[in-house]
Amino acid sequence: MCGIVGYIGPRDATPLILAGLRRLEYRGYDSAGVAVIQDGHIEVRRDAGKLDNLERLLNERPVHGNIGIGHTRWATHGRPSARNAHPHVGMNGNVVVVHNGIVENFLELRDELTAEGVIFRSDTDTEVIVQLIERLMAAGLNLAEATRVAANRLKGAQAIVAMSNLEPDRLIAVRIGNAGGVTLGLGEGEMFIASDLPAIIEHTRRVVFLENGQMATVGPGGFEVQTLNGEPVEPEVHTIAWDPVSAAKGEYKHFMQKEIFEQARAVADTIGGRADFERGKVQLPDLPLSPEEARSIRRMVIVACGTSAYAGLVGKFMIERLAGLPVEVDYGSEFRYREPIIGPEDAVLAITQSGETVDTLAAMEEARGKGARVWAIVNVFGSQAQRLADGYITMQAGPEIGVASTKAFTTSLVDLYMLGLYLGHLRGTIGAAEMREYVRDLALLPDLVGRALELDSECRNLAPQLAGYEHFLYLGRGLNYPIALEGALKLKEISYIHAEGYPAGEMKHGPIALVDPQMPVLAIAVRDVVYQKMLSQIEQAKARGGLVIALATEGDSLIAEKADHVLYVPEAPRLLSPVVNVVPLQLLAYHIAVYLGNDVDQPRNLAKSVTVE
Ligand code: AGP
Repeated sequence: MCGIVGYIGPRDATPLILAGLRRLEYRGYDSAGVAVIQDGHIEVRRDAGKLDNLERLLNERPVHGNIGIGHTRWATHGRPSARNAHPHVGMNGNVVVVHNGIVENFLELRDELTAEGVIFRSDTDTEVIVQLIERLMAAGLNLAEATRVAANRLKGAQAIVAMSNLEPDRLIAVRIGNAGGVTLGLGEGEMFIASDLPAIIEHTRRVVFLENGQMATVGPGGFEVQTLNGEPVEPEVHTIAWDPVSAAKGEYKHFMQKEIFEQARAVADTIGGRADFERGKVQLPDLPLSPEEARSIRRMVIVACGTSAYAGLVGKFMIERLAGLPVEVDYGSEFRYREPIIGPEDAVLAITQSGETVDTLAAMEEARGKGARVWAIVNVFGSQAQRLADGYITMQAGPEIGVASTKAFTTSLVDLYMLGLYLGHLRGTIGAAEMREYVRDLALLPDLVGRALELDSECRNLAPQLAGYEHFLYLGRGLNYPIALEGALKLKEISYIHAEGYPAGEMKHGPIALVDPQMPVLAIAVRDVVYQKMLSQIEQAKARGGLVIALATEGDSLIAEKADHVLYVPEAPRLLSPVVNVVPLQLLAYHIAVYLGNDVDQPRNLAKSVTVE
């Protein structure tokens, strides 16, 4: 997770910012940096690697001042290095910026600025932001106005903090979409800005959460908030209960809710450092493979449990399409007892958030014993699955506390997509132009997930009407059949309502006998190759008096004539659409469980990591 910290007040900013960066996340970083205004100039210290490297640099070359910003980075554009580390300074040294998110139109902006004579010094998308702000200030705008105008030029979800030595009495913070939070900490004669509460909570418990499309001008004595259209806003000031758990939950009631809303930023971090948008390729440094080895693989077997197994079913579509490699998917608990016929020409891929699921680990050992190549997609760094695997891909979702898995699922899908591209490149099944398109599609994802999250209030409003039912059917086809399974599992495990995910085409072979007014049907009917088939599925369910909630693509007015409720999701590139389509199903399950008063984060009978058979 990228982290952002800012400070303005009477104290020395440097140690406060460094301490704040340490509190944001405990996992390694690929780079970190601090910028402080000292004697009227912007002083930057930044380095690749962990925060210890930055601390060493600051000890060697100290900087002090009363205003500063800091950043820890998972690269999204540009390889992890000192030159790509934030903060980024404008060409004339008058503006400096830290940033979370992906500027989808950064190439176009970079070309425009380069044509105006701007010289870029990094490979990052972030640099277009700071160069844009600096040029607008040179044209006469103040820092706030320049930042607001620049922010309105950006496509995609962003969290930005800007600072200028020309106006050393203020910081400007911007939040667009869901690329990570921007929280203001209201101290006594001092102000803090951070992407997460843990960096603020030790200094003050009075906080303001910036909303999507808002910008704050922050001075030592206070702040002003406006929309990106310049309209003033009076935000609510929250007082956070002083305990690490509620601090960790931030503005959310449950960890599951927080983790659902973290998904836009989480997928950006998953993409981070591995998708090279300019060169149009994917690098997976922790899964070394030569083209010869990649071509020698005859089949992939994905082994996983629960939600991770459903991610594997989506992965089958992705990897078969992108890498031309046959893929089987099996539950870890089944694989290990069916005497699987596998050998050295097979690759067995485990998907496991915890990296400790005993059935999945046992399947990995079974595969290892039969000479297969063993890989893992894993979230918890240092877990058994990661250590057991010949190669691995981290989800980079950040800690997932809620028992019901959400951001681990969507980040697994991104990893599976990138694995498909990686193998496709090595096996020669994807040409350079096609690869560039597939890689560019990844840049759209954080914003698309952020837009899907805007269905939250609709799902909350639907919950009371749905919470009374005892059975649900979730129907999907093709890429969305696994999403139907996952949506049903989310509802089961936190609301305790029986729900069955089913391949829609199978309904006529028996299950349609179940459909009646007491059996709501959730049909995933987004615009794709099986759209027409799903429409007739909906008609069949309606004909039997079933209540139908449809998931449809924005702009599809036809479906509203057929379904009782429609949840509209943004159109997404086909292979990545499951990452977007699952979000409203997560939200629906969450709000139904909350309405029923269940313990959402620790549902009955369940554990976060099933380390027993
Ligand atoms: C998902 O919501 C459940 N908590 C459960 O199915 C989980 O996905 C399964 O136990 C696998 O866990 P893992 O990904 O840590 O291996």
